[in-house]
Amino acid sequence: GHKESLQGKTVLITAGPTYEAIDPVRFIGNHSSGKMGFSLAEEAAARGAEVILISGPSAQKTGHQKIRLHQVTSAREMLDKVFEFYDRTDIGIASAAVADYAPKEAAREKIKKNDDHLTIELVKNPDILKTMGERKTRQFLVGFALETQNEEENAKAKLEKKNLDMIVLNSLRDEGAGFKNDTNKIKIFTRTEKKEFDLKSKEEVAKDILDFVESQLLK
Ligand code: C5P
Repeated sequence: GHKESLQGKTVLITAGPTYEAIDPVRFIGNHSSGKMGFSLAEEAAARGAEVILISGPSAQKTGHQKIRLHQVTSAREMLDKVFEFYDRTDIGIASAAVADYAPKEAAREKIKKNDDHLTIELVKNPDILKTMGERKTRQFLVGFALETQNEEENAKAKLEKKNLDMIVLNSLRDEGAGFKNDTNKIKIFTRTEKKEFDLKSKEEVAKDILDFVESQLLK
């Protein structure tokens, strides 16, 4: 984890929420800030990597000249953007909080509040990370998991199901961890290893995650 330790590597990171259009002015989204993904991007760039940061709508800023930010809105757009750059990716990190479902079709005009009931049909979004896992050739793939029950079991199951090399479990139980917060408390799993970390700022968490990735690449 020092300057230049990721020199020559291309790191692709997904970040933020996705917004799924209901009509021209409304969407289904979530409260992901994008902070974890942007912190990972900054840290990877500081270590000399070329960073492709693909983010849904987020207020986060990036200034580093080794980070190329691609702004997307929906899960579909995020998927397409990821696969524009997947072939050249060495390390893929999926920190985006992708919406699980999207409206079957966005209304072309703003929906009027005429009826007492309104039903919006939703269809499942593509699983971007799972698709990355299926198309993996040489990429080292890192996913995130946020679970409320059987967290370790579910995180490990996700590692297998999505063909990942490593998964970062965010704790929801711990005060100050996850989503909108500036701090996070994580556990990292590979197929054979487990490591627990203390509650830290997302900048510090990004260092722990990339240190762990680097240790795996050396194996
Ligand atoms: O299956 P689940 O949503 O819990 O998995 C979380 C992991 O998968 C995260 O790394 C997230 O970025 C990624 N993911 C994705 N596309 C989806 C859903 C999740 O890339 N549609």
